[in-house]
Amino acid sequence: MISVSNVSMRFGGKILFEDVSTTFLPGRRYGLTGPNGAGKSTFMKLLSGESEPQKGNVVRPKRLGILRQDQFAFDQYRVVDTVIMGNMTLWKALEEREELYAKPELTDEDGMRLGELEGIVAEEDGYTAESDAAVLLDGLDIPEPFHHRKMGELQGGQKVRVLLAQALFGRPQALLLDEPTNYLDLESIHWLQNFLTHNEGTLIVISHDRHFLNSVCTHTADIDYQTIITYPGGYDDMVLQKTQIRARIEAENAQREKKIAQLNEFIARFAAGTRASQVTSRKKEVERLQTTELARSNIQRPFIRFEMKRPSGRHALEFKNVTKGYDGLEVIKGFSAAVQRGEKIALMGRNGVGKTTLLKALLANAPGVDDPDVGLDSGDVTWGHEVQVGYFAQDHRGSIRNGTTVAEWLHEWDPQASREEIRGLLGQMLFSGEEGLKPTDALSGGEAARLMFCKLMLQKPNLLVFDEPTNHLDLESINALNIALQKFEGTVLLVTHDEDLVSEVATRIWNFENGQIEDFLGSYEEYEGAAAR
Ligand SMILES: Nc1ncnc2c1ncn2[C@@H]1O[C@H](COP(=O)(O)OP(=O)(O)OP(=O)(O)O)[C@@H](O)[C@H]1O
Ligand SMILES: [Mg+2]
Repeated sequence: MISVSNVSMRFGGKILFEDVSTTFLPGRRYGLTGPNGAGKSTFMKLLSGESEPQKGNVVRPKRLGILRQDQFAFDQYRVVDTVIMGNMTLWKALEEREELYAKPELTDEDGMRLGELEGIVAEEDGYTAESDAAVLLDGLDIPEPFHHRKMGELQGGQKVRVLLAQALFGRPQALLLDEPTNYLDLESIHWLQNFLTHNEGTLIVISHDRHFLNSVCTHTADIDYQTIITYPGGYDDMVLQKTQIRARIEAENAQREKKIAQLNEFIARFAAGTRASQVTSRKKEVERLQTTELARSNIQRPFIRFEMKRPSGRHALEFKNVTKGYDGLEVIKGFSAAVQRGEKIALMGRNGVGKTTLLKALLANAPGVDDPDVGLDSGDVTWGHEVQVGYFAQDHRGSIRNGTTVAEWLHEWDPQASREEIRGLLGQMLFSGEEGLKPTDALSGGEAARLMFCKLMLQKPNLLVFDEPTNHLDLESINALNIALQKFEGTVLLVTHDEDLVSEVATRIWNFENGQIEDFLGSYEEYEGAAAR
């Protein structure tokens, strides 16, 4: 069980939640919900002990399994090591032991320390750590050859599986997962749903995916109105109860206000007259009825619009025989196509088939892109006349420099832009007023994505390359992005697992399957129809 008492958090003028007391019981599966920036990750860090609440305290079990929102954090480590890091006490002991053994000569002190470390390693099941990790990885569908590779070489969906193995390592009593479905394809999400519903112990999971939450959760803890309220049921049940309760409170408030107005009218009319005692009693009643001001909901809708500085030529992009692979593994095997201005192409296919790889190959020498990861092994790529590319990478968080503010970072991309223009763009993307002065280090997952969209709205490129842009985004932002992509007059290359987005935006489909890329000139609906025949 995890129990939270009188916990409060605020940053500057923004209150995330105040005086929250609640418990999370074993055997239950809690969804933790709220829009981008509501404080979900912050709350989870309080639960895990990674940070301390400004007020109140948290009691937690000894063994916790944690999946953090930043899934690129372990890129430089080997896969098995990443899993073993799920037990930090053990991992630190193993590392220190290795350092000591690497010394040419051991002092007495070193010898003593080694004895202590061996004790810790034994107590934490360190002698079977590698094989325990391998069993978990196999169970999560990460085959043996990958176990000794670096995390950075794995594709997004595989990383999530490794990080889940990390969370499960050391048999935790409670599992805390921050957006585990990001980067997963639909089949992997179904697999995860099934996996989690068989989990014993306490589960707390953050997600913006309604279907996922409905299928996994027995309870929903929602962050809104500056507090956290737990409702029974999944996401949809929560929304229903939340709106009903809210409507009731608002109706009661309205009634009270009406009554107060009537009493005040009486007081005003007879204040100077003979009915002094009645006036006094009515004044008392007004005081008693005083309505409490309701905290506003934190749900807001951003406004996204991608305009172009100028259109590109008619032929936006042409490439022939593009090949790209890693370490002898050929992922893209000679793909050719021509893309016309205004086409919106969805790249579809399961995790690991090479969608990101193809984008990175095509982006080599692209005007407006200076990502170090891009490049191709062979083939020709020709960008059209006046093409300007706006690239939203899968791992875009790293491209937002730490140590500056939201507004300053944005302004650097176009120093000519006026302060008003910057402020306007930021406001559109829900960074109004003080929010624009926020340090970039503090950005939540969804806020970082919103800031990337600000940059693209400022630069006004005419060809957008988006690699899974909806990860981290809340429902309101996904809707806004969907509409913006539909209205965009330029060219789009889009990787996403969001079927609504594909069917409403795409005019052409590149489907990756069995090492081939199928090029279909038509919408997703037409594509499905053709596939069914
Ligand atoms: N050190 C800090 N200084 C100022 N603001 C902060 C700091 N840390 C977090 N915040 C702000 O607190 C809010 C909550 O952040 P948090 O990461 O918990 O959001 P979240 O609900 O997980 O959002 P998302 O769905 O986008 O992941 C955000 O507006 C964030 O910018
Ligand atoms: Mg978060």
